[in-house]
Amino acid sequence: MVQVVPKLVIDGLTKRFTGIDALTRIDTTIQSGEFISIVGPSGCGKTTFLRIVSGLEEATTGEIRLDGRAISKPGSDRGFVFQQDNLLPWRTILQNAMIGPEIGGYASPERLKATKGLLKLVGLEGFEDYYPRQLSGGMRQRVNLARALAIDPEILLMDEPFSALDAQTREIMQTELLRIWEKGRKTVLFVTHQIDEAVFLADRVFVFARRPGRLQEIIEIDLPRPRPLSIKRTPAFVALVERIWNLIEHEVRESIMEEMV
Ligand SMILES: Nc1ncnc2c1ncn2[C@@H]1O[C@H](COP(=O)(O)OP(=O)(O)OP(=O)(O)O)[C@@H](O)[C@H]1O
Ligand SMILES: [Mg+2]
Repeated sequence: MVQVVPKLVIDGLTKRFTGIDALTRIDTTIQSGEFISIVGPSGCGKTTFLRIVSGLEEATTGEIRLDGRAISKPGSDRGFVFQQDNLLPWRTILQNAMIGPEIGGYASPERLKATKGLLKLVGLEGFEDYYPRQLSGGMRQRVNLARALAIDPEILLMDEPFSALDAQTREIMQTELLRIWEKGRKTVLFVTHQIDEAVFLADRVFVFARRPGRLQEIIEIDLPRPRPLSIKRTPAFVALVERIWNLIEHEVRESIMEEMV
């Protein structure tokens, strides 16, 4: 029998900030090519978890292994897409997308060609020489995605990447992301506050809870692929959203009340 080696192993992970247990004892494994969505109320440690996987933040205890190697610092095996597009305004779209390879010292002509291919893949062919200010929010997030893919990472880490977009653009970006993912089957960790977005994209949804921050439950999303947007109106989809909402509703209400006082 062929033994499947997990892509990512989270082994006894905890993170403590002064006075706050941001993450308590996370043990889980993620397979190569899996799409994992992460949901949970504000402050439950979603960003902290992604930052530790990215290597930007150190774990207090425990270990994360990527392909069997412990993560200790950022690396080109992990691409990060943040909520805000942090494109450099004085660089063209192509120059922005090439930042990773440039910093890593592997900005070869082949890599440039591959990056142009990625811009095409995200629907930005013909915009290579534009500047960020000339693009819409949705287009800038596409550049962000191309830039994260340009380092050819093993894992894509996405922290609320579509939350600044309007509802229609957001739905288009969800289908585009799935289309791109189907092509390369990177392992993806995708944080979102929208449960329907989480369900639409994922193979499994990690539901986090807070105080202390923890991985509360993992929900399998056994919906067929490819998934058209119309799947969101099917009873199976609605039932999954409902199930996850029931898990976190109480805590979301609590966190909203706290933010109001
Ligand atoms: N650098 C830091 N120093 C101290 N506390 C921090 C730091 N970063 C995060 N925290 C705390 O850790 C907890 C988890 O924060 P985190 O940003 O990971 O939550 P989140 O789930 O991403 O929330 P949101 O949905 O609002 O983005 C929060 O209580 C937060 O205040
Ligand atoms: Mg966050």
